[in-house]
Amino acid sequence: MKEDAALNAFKEDQEQGKAIDTSKRVRIGIIGTGWIAGSHIKNYLEMEDVDVVALADLVPGKAEAFAKKYGVEGARYYTSDVEMLENEKDLDGVSICTYNCEHAGPAIRCLNAGVNVMLEKPFTVTLDEAIEVMKAEKASGKILTIGFQPRMSQNMQMVKKIVESGELGKIYYLQAGGGRRSGIPTPFGTTFIEKETGGVGAVGDIGSYSLDLLLNAVGYPKPLTVSGYTSAYFGTDPETYPKHPEYAEKFGVDDFAAAFVRLEGDIILDFRIAWAMNMDTCGDALILGTKGGLRIPSTECWNGEFDKPLTVYRKVAGKNISYEVPLIKDEGKSFFYRKLRSFVDAIKEGGTATVPSSEIVYNQAIIDAICKSAKLGKEVEVTIPEV
Ligand SMILES: NC(=O)c1ccc[n+]([C@@H]2O[C@H](COP(=O)([O-])OP(=O)(O)OC[C@H]3O[C@@H](n4cnc5c(N)ncnc54)[C@H](O)[C@@H]3O)[C@@H](O)[C@H]2O)c1
Repeated sequence: MKEDAALNAFKEDQEQGKAIDTSKRVRIGIIGTGWIAGSHIKNYLEMEDVDVVALADLVPGKAEAFAKKYGVEGARYYTSDVEMLENEKDLDGVSICTYNCEHAGPAIRCLNAGVNVMLEKPFTVTLDEAIEVMKAEKASGKILTIGFQPRMSQNMQMVKKIVESGELGKIYYLQAGGGRRSGIPTPFGTTFIEKETGGVGAVGDIGSYSLDLLLNAVGYPKPLTVSGYTSAYFGTDPETYPKHPEYAEKFGVDDFAAAFVRLEGDIILDFRIAWAMNMDTCGDALILGTKGGLRIPSTECWNGEFDKPLTVYRKVAGKNISYEVPLIKDEGKSFFYRKLRSFVDAIKEGGTATVPSSEIVYNQAIIDAICKSAKLGKEVEVTIPEV
């Protein structure tokens, strides 16, 4: 079938492995040595041209213990990004793996110090913070990329390719899907659920991925207005945490969010996300166009994996038909490795960000507006300051 040939051609593009030039080495620092930093270090250690030279964490001794756990040798340790930057004058890049409320500060300081930044998602907590980071990025001329690893999934890339092919016609409606029935992230403590550290809950955590899947596919149109809702019925219930009922009192963010978003280009986004709900999923993600529709099976949002094929709905010779787009077997390195590799390659080759702030600022603007609208109880206009 021709379709398979097209898919395979696409796959080949992606799998062109480049030989790594180990004579040019990249010096990396990691800021925040908690849960997700583990995935960063494991993948950096696999790269033969990367030296992880510095690790920082606010908790004294945590960076050293982390280094020991992962077998990092010869690194220097610090108790903040500030101390790291004061002492490390030849860093090429940093992974910022701090909780959400500590994204903007370290990112701005690293960019001001002339260091390239891989910033974990969500971009920030508020839109204002994102704008400040972008100002520092612009002034520095350095790379700032946001850590959405599903972007490296060939199946997610296929969603964008289908939209770009024109097969669906003019896109006018997006429905976000996914979400969790029971998945408030507290396996390693409470930094996701406390206001002072997480800042936002499900809406920023997995909501940012869900938004990225759809907005990236349709070219990141600017958000214009948002009517948003957030709630926290599960996070604040002690029964949600059988092992740690005391977490309920600490819960200061949302565990569910929904929104009606108007986007530039006469596109409507119908958004919903949950860390917890009395439902298995918020549903599949849908893209409706004048010539066709695309169903994207409900996913875990964060990992870029689809367990069912995409389905295209069209009219052919006046008849309603639908067909599946076979899942691409995306073998080889993990999406996480690829996201870090693309950052390292961009540093080495003078390239640009794989997931640029110019796109993700719209993702952040929607999250920010959902929170504001939910607080005000009415629709809000989205204003994005010039950088
Ligand atoms: N890409 C993914 O798949 C993925 C998965 C999980 C988490 N995340 C994101 O990663 C970030 C971190 O999440 P986590 O679960 O690892 O959090 P965590 O709480 O386990 O770790 C964060 C660490 O950062 C440290 N820290 C905070 N501010 C610091 C500073 N200025 N300097 C040095 N250290 C500092 C804290 O002490 C803590 O040890 C969050 O923004 C989260 O959304 C991404």
